[in-house]
Amino acid sequence: MESFNPVTTQGLSITNLFWLELAISALLLAGVIGLLVTALIRFRAPPGDRADAPQIHGNERLEVIWTATPAAVLVVIFFLMIGTMRTVNAEQPNAEPVEVVGHQWWWTFSYPNRQAITANELHVPVGTPMQVSLDSADVIHSFHVPQFGWMQDLVPGKTNSMWITVVRPGTFDGTCNQYCGLQHAWMRVTVVADPPDQFNAWVQQQAQPVTPTGAPGEKVFQQNTCVSCHAIRGLPGATGTVGPDLTHLGSRSTLGAGVIQNTPDNLRAWIRDPQAIKPGVLMPAFASLSESDMSALVDYLESNK
Ligand code: CUA
Repeated sequence: MESFNPVTTQGLSITNLFWLELAISALLLAGVIGLLVTALIRFRAPPGDRADAPQIHGNERLEVIWTATPAAVLVVIFFLMIGTMRTVNAEQPNAEPVEVVGHQWWWTFSYPNRQAITANELHVPVGTPMQVSLDSADVIHSFHVPQFGWMQDLVPGKTNSMWITVVRPGTFDGTCNQYCGLQHAWMRVTVVADPPDQFNAWVQQQAQPVTPTGAPGEKVFQQNTCVSCHAIRGLPGATGTVGPDLTHLGSRSTLGAGVIQNTPDNLRAWIRDPQAIKPGVLMPAFASLSESDMSALVDYLESNK
């Protein structure tokens, strides 16, 4: 039902067209049913009359009416649809660019004008048009947030785009909508729409690199294979791009693209054995980490808000 409650100007124009078409169809249906019922009642045979009804062949005027009316309705709907498509695809000046990359099975969201990059949680400013470009790192995915009003595929080697202007604050759920392998179902998106000043504060925070402090957990991260796949901006050696950027992991609401809430206990369980939580995920288990190293690592990652 969320599709009927769009939160973007583009989605609103699609939903408005849907309701208008539904009203036109309902009107036509009512007309046809009305005529049918009228004919059944008015022209029914009197009781006892067993004679055949008069047989009629063709009625030019009627045939023209029932051909021309649906044709005219289709022409009207066609032009309404063209209008809606133009609204949905209209280029928005001064749009904030955001790049979406689909991976098996998570999302990168980066804000090229802000030097900010995050995963699985898309933040947008209310009332500001966003130019969303979509690409894939592996197979075909589809970016679907029902309340945006429509979806767009992410195709390897081809950049698709969509424009969205979110009109009210809130948190909106989305999914990957193109079967993309074992954990397709756990390729969730959370959209957080905030007033522009709140969005700006968030994006500036996300753009900040960390300052290395030599904390025990920082060393555990650098000395294990974490850094081959994950980046923590500002931390020497941590420049992997295969897995999600973890610079501000502590600020995210979920782990594993929605599969569990982001809590220290869940993060510990995830690092210990991600396959137990999300079978097929590309992250290997770190079963051999000592309890103290694990605690230090979890503290470190969660402290990066
Ligand atoms: Cu990605 Cu389904």
